[in-house]
Amino acid sequence: MKKNIADWTIIENSLQNNNHCLMKVKLENNGTLPTILPGQFVQIKVDNVEDVFLRRPISVHFVDYKNNELWLLIQLVGKGTNKLAEYKVGDKINIVYPLGNGFTIPESSEPKKLLLIGGGVGIAPLLYLGATLKEKGFKPVFLLGARSGKDLTQLEEFKKYGEVLITTEDGSLGEKGFVTNHSSLLCGDADFIYTCGPKPMMVSVARYAKEYNIDCEVSLENHMACGIGACLCCVEKTTKGNTCVCTEGPVFNINKLTWQI
Ligand SMILES: Cc1cc2nc3c(=O)[nH]c(=O)nc-3n(C[C@H](O)[C@H](O)[C@H](O)COP(=O)(O)OP(=O)(O)OC[C@H]3O[C@@H](n4cnc5c(N)ncnc54)[C@H](O)[C@@H]3O)c2cc1C
Ligand code: FES
Repeated sequence: MKKNIADWTIIENSLQNNNHCLMKVKLENNGTLPTILPGQFVQIKVDNVEDVFLRRPISVHFVDYKNNELWLLIQLVGKGTNKLAEYKVGDKINIVYPLGNGFTIPESSEPKKLLLIGGGVGIAPLLYLGATLKEKGFKPVFLLGARSGKDLTQLEEFKKYGEVLITTEDGSLGEKGFVTNHSSLLCGDADFIYTCGPKPMMVSVARYAKEYNIDCEVSLENHMACGIGACLCCVEKTTKGNTCVCTEGPVFNINKLTWQI
C-alpha cells in the first residue's frame, strides 16, 4: 500500500483525562484520504522537543472520510506524546500514513461473534475496527480494560458500534479485575478475537483463544524508529523468523507468533 507524507491541520486536541488526549486532524489543502485499514498506524513528527528526533507511531483510532479527518488517541507517556498534547487547534502536524497491515475483516456472509479486547491505550485501534465491522453487518462486542474508570475514554463512541463490556483493576467501572477475567469469557463462545494492549494482556488473551480454539489477531506495539522496515528495531520472532512489526504487522495472527502461549 502506498505511503503518504503530508501536513495535517489539528482541528481538535482535547485532554480526555490525566493521561490521554484525543487529537483530530484534517488533511491540508482539502486533500482526499486514501483507504485506511483498521489496525494501520501513522508516524507523527514531533517538532521542537529536545532529544525527540524520531517520529512517534500512533494507531488510527478512527477515520472520518466524509470530513477527511483522522482521529488519534494518545497516551501521554514521555516527551513526544506530552508535546503532542500541547499542540493547539490550527497547528500543523506532519504525518506519514497509512503504515503496516490491518486486521482481517471476515466475509460479510459469515455469521461470527467478534470480540474486540483492548487494554489501556490498546483500545485505540479497536474503535475504527468496530465501526468497520458494524458497517459490514457484524455486531462487534468490545471488552475494554483499564486500571480505573477514569482511564477509559471514548466509551460513547464505542457504544455506537457495539456492546461495550468493561473491566477495571480498581473496580470503579464495570467488573473488577483484568479484561481476561471478565465473566463473558467464561463460556469461550467467540468466533474471532482481536486484541491490542500491553503484551502480558495480549499473551493472556492469546492463551485463552488457543484454549477455546478461537481465531485471534493481536496488534503489537513494539518500539519503532523508521516505521518502514529499514532500521530493524521493531523485530518480532515469528514462525517465519524475525519479522519487522512495522511492515509485516502490527497485526499478527497468534499462530504466526512464537510466544510461549
Ligand atoms: C504500531 C504502534 C501503534 C501505537 N499506537 C498508539 C496509540 O494509538 N496511542 C498511543 O498513545 N500510543 C501508541 N503507541 C505507543 C507510542 O508510540 C509510544 O507511547 C510513544 O512512541 C512514546 O513516545 P514518547 O516520546 O512520549 O515517550 P518516550 O520518551 O519515547 O518513552 C516514554 C516511555 O514509554 C515507553 N515507550 C515508548 N514507546 C513505547 C511503545 N511503543 N510501547 C510501549 N512503551 C513505549 C518507553 O519505554 C518509556 O518508558 C503505538 C506504538 C506502536 C508501535
Ligand atoms: S521501525 Fe524500523 S524496521 Fe520497523
